[in-house]
Amino acid sequence: MKDIIIAIDGHSSCGKSTLAKALSSALKYRYIDTGAMYRAVALYFLRKGMLEEPIDKSALIRLLPDIHVEFEYNAELDRNITNLNGENVEEEIRGVRVSQVVSIVSQIPEVRSMLVAQQQEMGKAKSVVMDGRDIGTRVFPNAELKLFVTADVEVRADRRYSQMMDNGIKVSREEVIQNLKQRDYDDENKGESPLKKAADAIEIDNTHMTKQEGVDIALNHAIEVINRE
Ligand code: DC
Repeated sequence: MKDIIIAIDGHSSCGKSTLAKALSSALKYRYIDTGAMYRAVALYFLRKGMLEEPIDKSALIRLLPDIHVEFEYNAELDRNITNLNGENVEEEIRGVRVSQVVSIVSQIPEVRSMLVAQQQEMGKAKSVVMDGRDIGTRVFPNAELKLFVTADVEVRADRRYSQMMDNGIKVSREEVIQNLKQRDYDDENKGESPLKKAADAIEIDNTHMTKQEGVDIALNHAIEVINRE
């Protein structure tokens, strides 16, 4: 049995993080949510009021050494909590304000280089499941297992819509579809590390799958790679 890196990339709202968490707990691997790192950096700049137009990118870049994003395992919740300069920001980074600006921040090459270097360090010891948009293409091009997760945009929108309804967020289904299409476009067309399936990634299209079916397929691939000579 060997220790491996599992790189998971794919579209927004297709269950990447649910899959990554399920895999990491089944294999007793660490789970690294790289989207949370971009979100924490965005929150830092948002709090400083630096993401109002016109954005001064060189001022943002100068502040990068002051930003420290870390994950802390919370045993009670059985999951990682995102800390920004020592403060628990797990809730705040998932909010609407951060979601609206994170893609601006994630397109700054210097932000990406800093976070990619930290992610590479976090994965050095292997036994890790990392999810994001560029894990199999840039962060770990030699990952032993690469998964690319996707689903039809309408199905992703329906899942997201019912999640938002459950959380009491008022929004129309049409708005959710438009928002997802825009995010897909931004992810696939950003100048820096656009989202694309690595040539050696295994695609999991879960349009017609339950969560558990997706997890079972991914886990079978992982076990096969872990046991391979
Ligand atoms: O997966 P998420 O929605 O939490 O990601 C937040 C944002 O960060 C989203 O705009 C995509 C971007 N991102 C990225 O560019 N590269 C990654 N490895 C992870 C996320």
